[in-house]
Amino acid sequence: MASFTGRCSVFWLLLAILHPFTPVATGEQEQLEPLSFEPLHCERIDGEALRRWIASEPGARRLCSGTPSCDRVLMCDCQKTTISDQQAAFTLPPFEATTVATDILIRNCGQLHVPTGTFRALRSGFLPRTVRFLNIEQLTLESFAFEITSQSRVPNPDPRDRHPVLGPIELHFERCHIEELPANVFHGAGLRSIQFSSASSIGVVRPLAIGIRLRQLTFRDSAIGRFARHAFKRAQMEELLLQNVTMHDSWTSQGWQGVVVAETIRISDSTFLQPILPAAITESSTNELVLQNNVFNASMADEAFQLAVTSRVSMIGNVFGQLSPNLFRGLTISNETAWNAQPTLVLERNQIDELVVPGSSAAVGSSSFFHIPRNFTVNLQSLRIAELATCDSTNLAGASQWQQEIFFLRPFAVSGHDDPESYISIEEFRQQEGCDATGPDLVLIIVLSTLLGVTLIGGLIGGFVFYRHQKKRQRMLLLEQGLVHPAPRTYRETQIMLKLETVGTLKTDF
Ligand SMILES: *[C@@H]1O[C@H](CO)[C@@H](O)[C@H](O)[C@H]1NC(C)=O
Ligand SMILES: *[C@@H]1O[C@H](CO)[C@@H](O)[C@H](O)[C@H]1NC(C)=O
Ligand SMILES: *[C@@H]1O[C@H](CO)[C@@H](O)[C@H](O)[C@H]1NC(C)=O
Ligand SMILES: *[C@@H]1O[C@H](CO)[C@@H](O)[C@H](O)[C@H]1NC(C)=O
Repeated sequence: MASFTGRCSVFWLLLAILHPFTPVATGEQEQLEPLSFEPLHCERIDGEALRRWIASEPGARRLCSGTPSCDRVLMCDCQKTTISDQQAAFTLPPFEATTVATDILIRNCGQLHVPTGTFRALRSGFLPRTVRFLNIEQLTLESFAFEITSQSRVPNPDPRDRHPVLGPIELHFERCHIEELPANVFHGAGLRSIQFSSASSIGVVRPLAIGIRLRQLTFRDSAIGRFARHAFKRAQMEELLLQNVTMHDSWTSQGWQGVVVAETIRISDSTFLQPILPAAITESSTNELVLQNNVFNASMADEAFQLAVTSRVSMIGNVFGQLSPNLFRGLTISNETAWNAQPTLVLERNQIDELVVPGSSAAVGSSSFFHIPRNFTVNLQSLRIAELATCDSTNLAGASQWQQEIFFLRPFAVSGHDDPESYISIEEFRQQEGCDATGPDLVLIIVLSTLLGVTLIGGLIGGFVFYRHQKKRQRMLLLEQGLVHPAPRTYRETQIMLKLETVGTLKTDF
């Protein structure tokens, strides 16, 4: 009986343990059910049909608004292909060597699978100008999905094109949800730029996902889960842009490693919810690094950016959750900088919620508050540190040159951390509080001597009044006792007095 009860309770215990996982297990089973992918049907639109299409759809107008305008569009629309009411899963069929299209548009899919080699057969000389994925709820990309081996051999029509060696294709993802960008998803020399935009999301950018040469790589108005290590290894481009991006996971060490950016790395209006780890960018180079109006909610590690810079680093209007003055220790001057050039480090209107000042032993030998990379000139304006100003907290080693530009929270400030009014400069605070005075404080002396003066004058006036009062009282007493003998009047005085009295009497008698 006892053993039965025992077994019973073990059974219930097991059930209780397993119970929470049961729905997940069935969910996974549902996921694992074989999905039949229908090949997606594409149609060519050109000539009169293209003109009608552009006239009828704002989306088409936007697609064809570039220069040169689209000429032959190959459109693959899942909604036009759906067989039943059920949302079907589609596979993008490989484009054939005979495909002739200036623009390829793939849109409105629930699930779409892009297998390896889908674009491989496209012939050089007939490469499309744009390939656009629009509104795809679950886009699955395989490695080498965008392998485009051929490069346009047609003489470049644009004489102003500074990048004739790059392929012509601009690849866009708009409103697409992509679980992962696998290794080598982009490959070959056919692509000119890649852009993720319009509320797209990418779960993870896998190692070696982007390792090609491009004019521009852009993430805009999108969400990124995380960059895996070496996600951008060996990528070369002119511009690397993150604008209005929310990154949900931490930025892994070596996430961007070996990235060569000829012009600008610009990260703006973006939010990083988790820490930026050390060497998030490493062994990389750029002409310019710009961080503008970003929020880094968690910490940013020392040496997060190990980057050779040619001309400038700008950090303007950012909010950092936690930062130490060693952030810039990983920056170096690029060996391509002219021997006498001085790259600038522009730091304007940034806010640090928590400043982690390294131990004094580490600060020894650093002559300035921020670790400034060698041969950089610094332009620091309005750095707000959201910590209470005290003589201690404002005593930053090596910050003397920026005492007017570094601000701490004003004691008893009523408005919030984001209000500039809540802040007081180190210089003003330390003067006001006399943090640097060695002997007795000047302000204190002034206050005390003023008090003393007031007391003295008050005492004098009081004494005088008291003296007068006492004297009067004494006289009154003497008068009362009739002990005061008026000085005898002269005859003339008596006459005048009498006259006055008579007149007075007469007057009062009237
Ligand atoms: C930023 O991106 C989100 C989508 O991720 C979008 O909803 C929002 O409108 C964008 N903000 C701006 C200012 O464009
Ligand atoms: C991130 O920080 C910003 C500014 O400090 C704040 O407004 C926002 O609520 C924070 N977000 C999260 C998820 O903590
Ligand atoms: C700069 O350094 C890199 C390696 O660190 C090297 O490949 C490159 O040739 C150098 N450039 C110049 C101009 O010295
Ligand atoms: C950097 O500055 C040092 C002196 O501080 C100078 O000797 C060196 O030549 C400079 N290097 C460059 C690349 O400007």
